[in-house]
Amino acid sequence: AQRTPLIAGNWKMNLDHLQAIALVQKLSWGLKDVKHDYSETEVAVFPPFTDLRSVQTLLAADKLSLVLGAQDVSPHESGAYTGDVSAQMLAKLDVHYLLVGHSERRQGHGESDELVGQKALAAHRAGMVPMICVGETAEDLEQHGAAAIPLAQLAAALAPLPQDAEFVIAYEPVWAIGSGQAATPEQAQEVAKAIRESLRELRGDERADATRVLYGGSVSSQNVAGFLRQPDVDGALVGGASLKSDEFTRIIQFKK
Ligand code: G3H
Repeated sequence: AQRTPLIAGNWKMNLDHLQAIALVQKLSWGLKDVKHDYSETEVAVFPPFTDLRSVQTLLAADKLSLVLGAQDVSPHESGAYTGDVSAQMLAKLDVHYLLVGHSERRQGHGESDELVGQKALAAHRAGMVPMICVGETAEDLEQHGAAAIPLAQLAAALAPLPQDAEFVIAYEPVWAIGSGQAATPEQAQEVAKAIRESLRELRGDERADATRVLYGGSVSSQNVAGFLRQPDVDGALVGGASLKSDEFTRIIQFKK
């Protein structure tokens, strides 16, 4: 199957809305300079909530082809949930991808597999595409091997989603996030392949073949090509390196 590679930049809790505008402008100019073909490699950015309106306005006004993502969502539709943001609100801002299950939310906010599934469902119902993050800690790796925990997280997150729902998977070994210690391309491929095999059982061949599985964890312009060369790795979820437009542009311009 032909899966369009996707390079996604998760800004995490960085950049105010003015800095966000500056980065998106620099990034899109840089990509224009190198004549980036967005139909060949899709590019998405995941700014903090407070930046979304500014970035959406800029993308619409300048007809930029970057795709917008958000970092979190409430599982509820609306109501008395102080501080939360609904899927409907994000969809109205042209948010297309919704990160759910990032390890920083699982660990720092105690998000359970069940909650991750409810958030994915909320995103799907509002017409967005959940980007479901899965990954093992260093301890999990030692105790269960690389794939067991990611596969269990995957099954739990997909459980509430209807069979025809579209989604993206981001495999991020927790020990590789922000550590400068990326997985090897072979390690990423092994788990990405196991994820695709599991998708075959859970969702059938068609969905398994069409679904992008990204690798995340200390991706840089130095190592990205090795990941993208793997048959089951269809892109990257980039944290730190997505905050520098030159470096992120080089990552997007990876050559297989
Ligand atoms: O969502 C992105 C990942 O957590 C990777 O972050 O590229 O800074 O290691 P990193």
